Amino acid sequence: MLVPTAAGTPAAPTGSPADTAPSVSASTAVAQARSADVEEQLARDPGRFRVLTGDRPTGALHLGHLLATLDNRVRLQDAGVDVVLVVADYQVITDRDDAGDLPAVVREVVLDYLAAGIDPARSTVFTHSAVPALNQLLLPFLSLVSVAELERNPTVKAEAVDAERRQGRGMSGLLFTYPVHQAADILFCRANLVPVGQDQLPHLETTRTVARRFNQRYAPTTGYFPEPEALLTPSLTVLGNDGAKMSKSRGNALELRASEDETVRFFRRARTDSERHITYEPERRPEVANLLRVGAHLAGTTPGELADAVGAAGAGRLKTVVTEAVVEGLRPLRERRAAMAADGPAVVRDVLARGNARANEIADRTLADVRELMGTMYS
Ligand code: TRP
Repeated sequence: MLVPTAAGTPAAPTGSPADTAPSVSASTAVAQARSADVEEQLARDPGRFRVLTGDRPTGALHLGHLLATLDNRVRLQDAGVDVVLVVADYQVITDRDDAGDLPAVVREVVLDYLAAGIDPARSTVFTHSAVPALNQLLLPFLSLVSVAELERNPTVKAEAVDAERRQGRGMSGLLFTYPVHQAADILFCRANLVPVGQDQLPHLETTRTVARRFNQRYAPTTGYFPEPEALLTPSLTVLGNDGAKMSKSRGNALELRASEDETVRFFRRARTDSERHITYEPERRPEVANLLRVGAHLAGTTPGELADAVGAAGAGRLKTVVTEAVVEGLRPLRERRAAMAADGPAVVRDVLARGNARANEIADRTLADVRELMGTMYS
C-alpha cells in the first residue's frame, strides 16, 4: 500500500522515516534552523508566502500578544506577505461550556488587529464558523491521523489538564481533535508558512503530516497541499504581574486597550527582585528581564541597552522607564483603537464580511479540488 493508513500506524512509530513524527525537541531544532532560512527567503521574495495564523477569541488581546505575535504579523504584511488571520471561534468551545459573549469578544480582537496595523485591504481576517468548506475538510483530515498520534500531542494534554483543574471538565472530542481542525485552518488556504511559538509546534507537525498523507493518498504524482513551514517567533514570553506567563485566564494581563492609568497601576504591581543594579540576565533574573524586554520592544531599543541606561538607579527607575515606554509606545495604537470603537459596529462588521467572503471563496475552491481528488464529485 502506498499510504500508511491511520489505523495501521503503530503507537510507537516504526514506519518510514517520512511518516514518523519527530520528537518535539528535534522538531524545535529543525524549525529553528529552517526559520532562519525562511527569513532570508522572506526578504528576497515575500510574495512566495501565504501566512496563516490566528487567535482564540477568549478576550481582548494583551501585551503578550503584541510582543509574541501581533507585531510580527504586521511586519510580514508590510513586507508583502499574504497574511490570513483566523479568529478561531470554534476553538473557544474546546475547553469550556460558556463561550461568553462571542460577538463582543470577536469585535475586541478584530479592533486589536486593526489598531496594531493589520490592514484589511491587504490581509484577510475571518472567523471559523462562517466558512463551512473549511470545516468540512476536518472530516477527510481526521481519517489521516490515528487516535494514538492525537494522544501524544503534548499541547492537547496540557490543555486537557488545565481544563480539568479549572472546571473539573474532562477532555472534549473537539479539544482532542483540534490540532486536525487547525490543519484545516492552515491548509484550506494552502498557507505555506505559519508563525508559531514553541507550544504550537506539535500542531504544525500534525498539519504537515495531514498534508503529506493527503498528497500520498489522493495526489501521489502531483501533490496538492504544501507542507507548511514553521516560522518560529523568537520566544518572547511576556510575564504577567504575578510572575507567571501573561494570560487572559490568569487575570495577570495588561490589555492593549487598557487606559494609561491602568498601565501605570499594572507596572507598579509588577515583580522585580532584590538586587539593586539592573542587568539583563534572562535566566537568573526573569522578572527584571521581562520588564527590560517589554520596555525595549516598545521603545525600539534592546533589553541590554535599556539595562545599561537604568543601571544603578534600580527597580523603581526601571518600572518608571518601562511604564513610559509602554504608555508612549501604545499611544498611537490606543488612539486608533478608540477612534474605530467610537465609529460603531460597522468597522468590524465590514472587515469580517469582506474577510469571510474571501475565506469562503478560497475554501470552496479547495474543497472542490479535494472532492475531485477524492473522487467524491458526483455531478
Ligand atoms: N491555537 C491558536 C491560539 O491558541 C489559534 C489558531 C487557530 C491558530 N488556528 C490556527 C494558530 C492555525 C496558527 C494556525 O491562539
